[in-house]
Amino acid sequence: MGTWTLGIETTAHTLSFGLVDGEGIPYPAASDTLRPDKGGIHPREAADHHKDVASMLFTKAMEMHSISPSDIGAVAYSQGPGLGPCLRVGAAIARGLATKMDVPLIGVNHCVAHIEIGRQQCGCDDPVLLYVSGGNTQVIARLNGRYRVLGETLDIGIGNMLDKFARNQGIPFPGGPKIEQLAAEYLSENPTPTMEGLQLPYAVRGMDLAFSGLLTAAQRLIDNGAPLNAVCWSLQEHAFASCVEVAERAMAHTGKSELLLGGGVACNNRMREMCNLMASDREGTSHAPPRMYCIDNGTMIGLLGWLELQKRTTALDESAIDQYLRTDQTPIVWS
Ligand code: ATP
Ligand code: FE2
Repeated sequence: MGTWTLGIETTAHTLSFGLVDGEGIPYPAASDTLRPDKGGIHPREAADHHKDVASMLFTKAMEMHSISPSDIGAVAYSQGPGLGPCLRVGAAIARGLATKMDVPLIGVNHCVAHIEIGRQQCGCDDPVLLYVSGGNTQVIARLNGRYRVLGETLDIGIGNMLDKFARNQGIPFPGGPKIEQLAAEYLSENPTPTMEGLQLPYAVRGMDLAFSGLLTAAQRLIDNGAPLNAVCWSLQEHAFASCVEVAERAMAHTGKSELLLGGGVACNNRMREMCNLMASDREGTSHAPPRMYCIDNGTMIGLLGWLELQKRTTALDESAIDQYLRTDQTPIVWS
C-alpha cells in the first residue's frame, strides 16, 4: 500500500486534489475553480463542474508530483461544512477511489483543515485564528480539546460580502482581489486618506460580526456618486478592522500571543498588515500561510486526514456529508 494521503476539496466553487506524503509534508494541489460569467454561484452548476473536471484534475495531481494511484495509502475529503451538491461530489469521488484502491477513507472538517494547514505552514503552536473566507468568518481558539468559535459573523461571510459588492459593480467572481487592487490604487492617489464622505457602519456586535449592513451602506455610497476605488478602500478598512478588533479581544481573553490567519480573504495584504500591527502592539506575532494554502485547496484536507488517521477512519456508512458541520464539532485527536 502507498504512503501518500490524497485530499479532496469540494465545499464550494473549487475542486482540488492535494497530496501529503508519508511524513505529513504537504505538496501543492491541482485545483480548478468555477467562475460564473454572471450572478452568484449555483450549487448544482458547481457540482456539475466538479464532476466534469475531476478525472483530468486527479491525473494532473498525480503527474505534478510524479506519483501513481498505487502510491496513495489513504483518501481524505471535506465532509462539511459547505454546499450540499458540491460536497456530495467530493464524497462520491473519495468513496470510489478509496474502495477501488482498497485504502482507508477519512472525512474531515473543512474549517479545521484551514486551521491545521496554517499551523503546519507557519509553525504556530496555540494561536487565536482569524478564519476569513467566502462563506465563513470566525475567530477561533483551541480550548479543552476543540477549536472553539469565540466570535463569528451573524449574517454573511466577509468574502461573500466583498464578492457581492464587486458583482454589483460588474466585477466578476472572485471580487476580493479586485477590491484589494482598487483600494491600493486609491491609496496611491491619496496617500493620506480620510473617511470623510466614506463612512460605513462598523460591524462588531460584542464578539460577533455582521456584514450585510456594510454591503448595503457601501452600495449606497456608490449610488450617491462616491468613486469606486474610494469605496473599496473604505469597505476594506471597516470590514477588516472589525475582524481584527474581535481577534484582539479573543487574544486578550484567552491570553494567547499568536494570531493565525486562514481562508481566502487572508490573501489580502491589507488584512495581513492590520493583523501584524495589532499583534505587534500586543507584543505577539501574526502569521499567514502562503496564499495557495489560504484559499480552498485539497492539500489542507490531505494534511488533516493524515493527522486524524493516527486515531480514526470513516466507515462507508458514516461517510455522508454534513452541510452544517461546525468547527467545534470535531474533537482534536492529534497533536
Ligand atoms: P469556505 O468554504 O471556507 O467559506 P470559500 O469557498 O469561501 O471557503 P476560499 O477560497 O477560502 O473559499 O475563499 C474565497 C474568498 O476569498 C472569496 O470571497 C474571495 O473574494 C476572497 N479573496 C481571495 N483573495 C482575496 C484578496 N486578495 N482580498 C480579499 N478577498 C480575497
Ligand atoms: Fe474554505
